[in-house]
Amino acid sequence: PPPTLRPRSLVLVGMPGSGKTSVGRRLAQKLGLPFRDADSEIEAAAGQPVTEIFARYGEPHFREGERRIIARLLDGPPIVLATGGGAFNDAETRAAIRAAGAAAIWLRAGMGTLLTRVAGRTTRPMFLNADPVEVLTRLMTQRHPLYAEADIVIDCRDTDTADDTTEQVAAA
Ligand code: S3P
Repeated sequence: PPPTLRPRSLVLVGMPGSGKTSVGRRLAQKLGLPFRDADSEIEAAAGQPVTEIFARYGEPHFREGERRIIARLLDGPPIVLATGGGAFNDAETRAAIRAAGAAAIWLRAGMGTLLTRVAGRTTRPMFLNADPVEVLTRLMTQRHPLYAEADIVIDCRDTDTADDTTEQVAAA
């Protein structure tokens, strides 16, 4: 059947700290769909944490695995999928999401929200040994124009909880 006649997978995209995993879990529960997290799937497949994959094999290698995992996860019954912050910036990954007929949802959050959530993160290579404000500023500048290609944009206020944002997504 044409893609519009079957339920679509929902793919959460956005900056690290935007709430993709917390909101994804809640949204999946609310909609009765399975939840998957791309980073966790990559870690399971590789048998090592994301930081380790970056450190040992480099970002291009990670992106390649990410592309493959996302395409595979979307090739099946509908799910809610949380992606890593850089996934939607990869042209091939964006194309795979589109080709799967999935809806991309951008959780757009401001610097204040992101900063409090990524502060002190040691499990993400982007924030190792770096000034989080600088990293976030650089990534937001690069990525926002691409996140804007998502099908749905959800504006997250600094005071919104994961439950608030989940409600917003469900109502969109
Ligand atoms: C990345 C974000 C991470 C993870 C990897 C790269 C990025 O996911 O995929 O460390 O490029 O922004 P989160 O957005 O869940 O932190």
